[in-house]
Amino acid sequence: MCCDEEQERKWSTPLAKQLFEAISTTGPVPLASYMRMCLTGDIGGYYSGAIDRSRDQFGAKGDFITSPEISQVFGELVGLWFVAEWISQARPKQGVQLIEVGPGRGTLMDDMLRTIQRFPAMASAIDSVFMVEASRELRETQKNLLCGIGSPATESKAGLHSTGKRLGKPIVWTETIKSIPIEPDKMPFIVAHEFFDALPIHTFQSAPASRSPAKPSDSSVAAHADAGAPAMEWREMMVSPTSPVATEPDPQPFRSLESESPAEFQLILSSGTTRHSRYLPESSSRYRKLKQTPGSVIEVCPDASLYAADFAARIGGSRKHPKPQPSGAALILDYGTSDTIPVNSLRGIRQHRIVNPFSSPGLVDLSADVDFTAIAESATLASDGVEVHGPVPQADFLELMGIRERAKMLTQGAEKSAADDIDKAWRRLVDRGPNGMGKVYKALAILPENDGRRRPVGFGGDVRI
Ligand SMILES: C[S@@+](CC[C@H](N)C(=O)[O-])C[C@H]1O[C@@H](n2cnc3c(N)ncnc32)[C@H](O)[C@@H]1O
Repeated sequence: MCCDEEQERKWSTPLAKQLFEAISTTGPVPLASYMRMCLTGDIGGYYSGAIDRSRDQFGAKGDFITSPEISQVFGELVGLWFVAEWISQARPKQGVQLIEVGPGRGTLMDDMLRTIQRFPAMASAIDSVFMVEASRELRETQKNLLCGIGSPATESKAGLHSTGKRLGKPIVWTETIKSIPIEPDKMPFIVAHEFFDALPIHTFQSAPASRSPAKPSDSSVAAHADAGAPAMEWREMMVSPTSPVATEPDPQPFRSLESESPAEFQLILSSGTTRHSRYLPESSSRYRKLKQTPGSVIEVCPDASLYAADFAARIGGSRKHPKPQPSGAALILDYGTSDTIPVNSLRGIRQHRIVNPFSSPGLVDLSADVDFTAIAESATLASDGVEVHGPVPQADFLELMGIRERAKMLTQGAEKSAADDIDKAWRRLVDRGPNGMGKVYKALAILPENDGRRRPVGFGGDVRI
């Protein structure tokens, strides 16, 4: 491709141009780097939103709709789940922290707080609410909803501080969970809804080793060599620009729709190992088992493991953050796999349609299936003081939490059309059809270790008073 051609190339977004320039300097980048720049990068990232500040990703006019935006009952039941945990964990009078990661418009937290308000003893036990949000625009939207438009705020090193309008409790916005101190006397209640699917993934494929034979000390590789099988290695899927004059169809599984702008980037397999391919797939026996099968593909999300480990340390304590008495809970709701490693799950979403994730960088939402087993593994590895329940289908979780009963209460006394809307909305959340939200979405809980004696409500257990 000649340089003049590249110089003249028109990019769909400023971010596309920046990505091209970065790749021209450093070479193809890992998929995770591409995702991070597209979602939360400074220049026109999808959530960091510098392209058009008035853009709203959520709702009918946006790109997607999430469960809390579909029905208020969703947030109410999640709030109730934490009330049940607070009751089961001896109703402390203070030290409760509510933490939400990736809070979107703030609707889920608002519905949770409205529910918790009805349990004054728990409401008064809350010290602070923390909102972990990468997007400045969404932090502002959340503050307007939870504290009131134009509510006063102060800035500290940790982030933005204001006061919630429902409980009158401090609400603190941080860009990462690391900015929230881990304190052994706190009872953290952490919720993550459609957060983990937005975290960048690495994709690896196993291939015959490109370099010299294994050293004699590497017994596992030597054993395979003895058996006549070639030594295998993990190669990483990297992102590089497409040719501006490409006429070939997009490689599967991504196909651009005719009305959509064409893919400006593509995935290519690295010709040898990379920094990430040498250590990430060695981090779990689940990946190691697949290495010898040529062509195996795995998606690995290191950020998901970091967040799961952080949640676990807050709840159960860790070597770095000892906690005399585990306490608190995390509830993770998202779409993904229960017991398999996600494969080819990266997708682009724009205006409620699946689109090529390599088109219009920064204007397309990117997400990937959540590997719930990897989250469970990271949590239990990080802390001996936690146990994991689920994942269970969202439909099971919400039905057990009483979605039918709550929706019925809301429809009573409502006008016919409003009642129909309420009915349609909650049924959508528990739809068990092949692509229904009740089946595709799942719930996983991280709780203080109790030898499996107490199952949480929504996962087959009752409230213990
Ligand atoms: C798909 S939206 C879900 C929003 C909300 N939980 C809901 O269900 O409506 C993802 C949210 O996570 C935030 N987010 C994405 N990546 C993030 C990151 N690395 N750190 C903090 N927040 C992030 C986005 O800005 C957005 O608020």
